[in-house]
Amino acid sequence: MPVTYAESAPRRRSKSIPVWDAFVRLFHWSLVLSTGAALLTGLWLGASWFTLHLIGGTLAVALVTSRIFWGFWGSSFARFAAFVVGPRRLAEHLCELAEGRAGRHIGHNPPGGWMILALLGTILVIGLSGVVALGGTLKTGPLAVAVDYATGALAQDLHGALAWALTGLIVLHVAGAVFESLRTGENLPRAMITGTKELRDEAAELPPRPARTRPALVAGLTAGAVVLGAASTLAVRQFPVPGAPIPPARFDRLYADECSACHIAYHPSLLPPESWGRLMATLGDHFGEDASLDPASTRAIAEWLTVAAARPTDTKPAREFARVDPAAPFTITKTPFWQETHAAISEATFSRKPIYGKFNCGACHQDAESGWFYPGNIDIPDTPKENSR
Ligand code: HEC
Ligand code: HEC
Repeated sequence: MPVTYAESAPRRRSKSIPVWDAFVRLFHWSLVLSTGAALLTGLWLGASWFTLHLIGGTLAVALVTSRIFWGFWGSSFARFAAFVVGPRRLAEHLCELAEGRAGRHIGHNPPGGWMILALLGTILVIGLSGVVALGGTLKTGPLAVAVDYATGALAQDLHGALAWALTGLIVLHVAGAVFESLRTGENLPRAMITGTKELRDEAAELPPRPARTRPALVAGLTAGAVVLGAASTLAVRQFPVPGAPIPPARFDRLYADECSACHIAYHPSLLPPESWGRLMATLGDHFGEDASLDPASTRAIAEWLTVAAARPTDTKPAREFARVDPAAPFTITKTPFWQETHAAISEATFSRKPIYGKFNCGACHQDAESGWFYPGNIDIPDTPKENSR
């Protein structure tokens, strides 16, 4: 007869039993930290936290991978076989709960077990979609050469939607643990620290027999998976992967000389060919300045720029800045994408001394001249002391 804990006897000192082994506990709290860091940096903090986001996400996926192996070759309570029940048993448990006669479980209870599967699965799919997004949009990681920008952007949308779904699952998981703690009078979060739970009167709930653990096998498989997948993802480079459809590496000498007198020489992939054509035709009145050159130089630069800009460059800035503002067809900072990505930066920040203005991309983007604009290379400079007074 299952005991109902709503009306259970007053708590007595009871024997305790080891339930969560050291691996499970270490896994659980490391996953809290790494997933927390990935969600916080991805959903709330900006692109300048990208490196921490990659580290948190990679760590979470590596931990989940090892937990899946431990679910097959770990200690008895850690095994999937010990806590994943069929839908019939799950429904029964929920009915018993509703009627206030559900029993207590030494390991995960049925909805708890399903929640573990949902959390592990969601984190894995978020990780996979992240690698696709990273390859397609930022030309980084193992899929840099294999995925185009459009696919990467789609994967990034999925990545973001699943991150919100994961946040919802985490809220449910915590609520479930609190609910079950109140219902059974046993502090479940604490049990995930000490590893032990009270042994009450439920020999029937114990797994049939202690399982033989295979820590070396699990460690080996995890290390293999990490080396294969995560290491190549984390190998964030200062330069895009060779072979990826990336901007041309070398600037035309004349362009680099003539067009870097007042600002950085903007990478040709940052505007579509028509925009460069119109800009070069109006150098006499260039943003209120006279930037005109002799006709031969103007023609040569215009030609190089339009040819370079017409190359199939599949980077994020090339794809996104191609949508220009019709009223300002060659102003990068007026494109909808630029306005969206920089909306959170105040005018005061842009006018600070080491920055001088929105046009000065290189002040904040260390890789501005390469046309890559990798988020890990963003650093908004502080105002130097002598200028801040
Ligand atoms: C004051 C510093 C600053 C200046 C100047 C600046 N940016 Fe940015 N830029 C940022 C920051 C910060 C972000 C990240 C915004 C966020 O959190 O999503 C960003 C994001 C971007 C992104 C998107 C990166 C990504 O993968 O999400 C691109 C592309 C970009 N900037 C291009 C430019 C260009 C081109 C210029 C010059 C015309 C420029 N930026 C000038 C600070 C700056
Ligand atoms: C005499 C100085 C001067 C020279 C030379 C010059 N520019 Fe400019 N350029 C400017 C100014 C000023 C701006 C406006 C900056 C701002 O937004 O405050 C500008 C803006 C731009 C922008 C738009 C940046 C944005 O804010 O989105 C582009 C693109 C550009 N210049 C391209 C060129 C090219 C190509 C050449 C070489 C043919 C060139 N410039 C030479 C002064 C110059």
